[in-house]
Amino acid sequence: MRKIAVINLKGGVGKTTTTLNIAVGLARKNRRVLLVDMDPQANLTGSLFLAGNKTVYDLLINKEHPSDVIINVDEFLDAIIADKKLADAEMIMAGMPSRETILKRSLESIFNYDYVLIDCPPSNGLLNYNSLLYADEAFVPVSTDYLGVVGLRRIVEIIDEINELFDHNVEISTVIPTMYDIRSKICKESLEEIRKGFNGEVVAPIRVNSKLKEAPRSGTSIFDYSKKSRGAKDYSRLVNQILNREEFY
Ligand SMILES: Nc1ncnc2c1ncn2[C@@H]1O[C@H](COP(=O)(O)OP(=O)(O)OP(=O)(O)O)[C@@H](O)[C@H]1O
Ligand SMILES: [Mg+2]
Repeated sequence: MRKIAVINLKGGVGKTTTTLNIAVGLARKNRRVLLVDMDPQANLTGSLFLAGNKTVYDLLINKEHPSDVIINVDEFLDAIIADKKLADAEMIMAGMPSRETILKRSLESIFNYDYVLIDCPPSNGLLNYNSLLYADEAFVPVSTDYLGVVGLRRIVEIIDEINELFDHNVEISTVIPTMYDIRSKICKESLEEIRKGFNGEVVAPIRVNSKLKEAPRSGTSIFDYSKKSRGAKDYSRLVNQILNREEFY
């Protein structure tokens, strides 16, 4: 079971879009996928129109059993949803014992998936510590602009620090350049910088595509919203790359 945190402390770089479309793409290839929305903005939950009585707050704070909070979304796809109450969780967690590993302990009994994908918030707090200390891998979407390059350096440093501090070993297995505009000089230069500056796998970029922006309004993935779009092509290629490397995990 691959446990993957989709993370970047920079906001708006495509974390939620990437988590959602990878998850749906993998599920369509018959991989059992669990989505976890760890962001109080609950954009992942909202983008798929997910609803349920229980949320990740109940898992983390009320110690409810995972089977009581997991909802079924589709064949091969389950989710633990979030709502805005999750914003309070961080403060409550701060007073709890071993506060950085609450998610890890809460999901201890979960092993019947091929992939667990966590949509992380753009902040450096306990929700992200918990996500990283549960995960074995991080996928880092990076916008192809100057601030994206800066953001990548920062998340690499933070993950190093967390690994050292908690004797953990989550690795950035994949950097995913996003918001790529082939006509833009800054996008090209930033992509170069990302490839030069990161010592690991940088996949082909996800191009800017308005269909990706529109899809959440319909509560669907890009594959259902616009199968022939650039966004669908790019995310489908990424899903295939993930599948191709499966044997190494
Ligand atoms: N390749 C793309 N082309 C065009 N728009 C995109 C693309 N990827 C994402 N978007 C849009 O950009 C916005 C930010 O994307 P998204 O919500 O996935 O980022 P995020 O990193 O999860 O943001 P946050 O940090 O707020 O959680 C959204 O409106 C989304 O629909
Ligand atoms: Mg998001």
